[in-house]
Amino acid sequence: MDFQLVKGTHDIINKEARFYQQIESLFISLAELYGYSEFRTPIIEYSELFKRDQNDSSDMVRKQMYTFNDLGNRSITLRPEGTASVARAIVNNKLYAENDFPIKAYYLGPVFRYERPKAGTYRQFLQFGIENIGIDSIYADVETIILSYRALKMLGFKNLKLKINCLGDQESRENYKKALVKYFTPLIDKMCPDCKERLKLNPLRIIDCKVPEDQALVKDAPKMGEYLSKTSKDRFVNTINLLKEVGIPYEIDEGIVRGLDYYSHIVYEFEYISKSGLNVGALGGGGHYDNLISEVGGPKLAGVGFAFGIERIYSLLKDEGMLPKLNDGFDFMVMPIGEACISRAFIVADFLRMLGYKAEAIIENKSFKAMFHKAERKEASYAILIGENEVKNNEVIIKNIKTQEQKVVKNKELKEFVDSLFSHDCHCGDDCHCDDGDCCCGGDHHGKK
Ligand code: HAM
Repeated sequence: MDFQLVKGTHDIINKEARFYQQIESLFISLAELYGYSEFRTPIIEYSELFKRDQNDSSDMVRKQMYTFNDLGNRSITLRPEGTASVARAIVNNKLYAENDFPIKAYYLGPVFRYERPKAGTYRQFLQFGIENIGIDSIYADVETIILSYRALKMLGFKNLKLKINCLGDQESRENYKKALVKYFTPLIDKMCPDCKERLKLNPLRIIDCKVPEDQALVKDAPKMGEYLSKTSKDRFVNTINLLKEVGIPYEIDEGIVRGLDYYSHIVYEFEYISKSGLNVGALGGGGHYDNLISEVGGPKLAGVGFAFGIERIYSLLKDEGMLPKLNDGFDFMVMPIGEACISRAFIVADFLRMLGYKAEAIIENKSFKAMFHKAERKEASYAILIGENEVKNNEVIIKNIKTQEQKVVKNKELKEFVDSLFSHDCHCGDDCHCDDGDCCCGGDHHGKK
């Protein structure tokens, strides 16, 4: 039998996984710098968490959820996003009870949506997101934009487009929806079947429709900006002014309504098209929400957040040749010369790992050529050769793969010797993270580290 990947899923292996780790760790460290801490919530949740309202109009909730009954006949859903799970965790764990706001959460993990797979669109994909909950302020809103913008800049994205829109407060949205119903009702026969339904459930969703005929109708539809209440308008102007003050470029786009029902006030998305023309859709998006925490059983607390799609970010970085540099090579490749020396090589490699070096022992009887070939493939800095003589004399031969210099070292002096290979006369002390010849302090590294 031929076992295939489930449609819309993919393996992330070896080097690719290391690149993912690098992207993710940049997001994590930046989020921690901004005071966010990690929330690890389950991948499975009761379906009602996402389907809170029978009239939910988002495609994600209506059409894309992986929902099934478990053996206890409970309806379970593989999470299609992280925001509702964070809201549930805050409520279940009564994190609001201490009155210490904002609650700042970040999360990273797989989410699931039954979408049509295409470049940058999967059915299982990774999201990194943050939620800032409990303080209803443009400063909280803008902080999430700053964090997401800085993260993408730090990864190397230059011509990023931040598109922002304001959906206003509930009153503004209700007035706008009425105007949309009035405009679209006479056009209903020209609309796609989905939009006919959207007109009943939530006409805002029509603005987002990708069908060209509907887009043509949307062009002349009323604009959200005309229906914002004074407080919503003022809030949006203040938000924009703050963005200007912190130097984040933006573009107001009234077509951004976002695909989820919980948003109010600002919504935003990041767009990027690579030089080769690769467009995978939004790299990330988010916005402000007023009612989500109360909808999942908590007090009325506002929140704001965003999520990035890691696959989309990775594929654009790859397409642009901007993937972060990997420093993946082995420090030592330990090579037994003959079957009888394998066990010593095995023990020496383990010893080196306990000293903090990345080491591999070759555990098969291989020719010199094959062993050095492997050392090259694994980007090893040093080979450690162990033959019968070395076993007998309690020593090893250490060979610098680049310079070919080699030295016989007694086992009891091995630690001191390998430490000297990797020590450097820079002045940064133990905090030095430079990994090439020249140190940031101007000193010189003798080894790889
Ligand atoms: P979202 O826009 O649905 O927002 O998803 C966030 C990001 O996930 C998108 O911008 C995109 O990069 C990525 N993404 C979405 N669908 C796919 C897919 N099928 N394949 C690959 N990547 C995808 C949310 O999920 C909100 N929870 C964000 C948020 C947080 N709003 C407030 N707080």
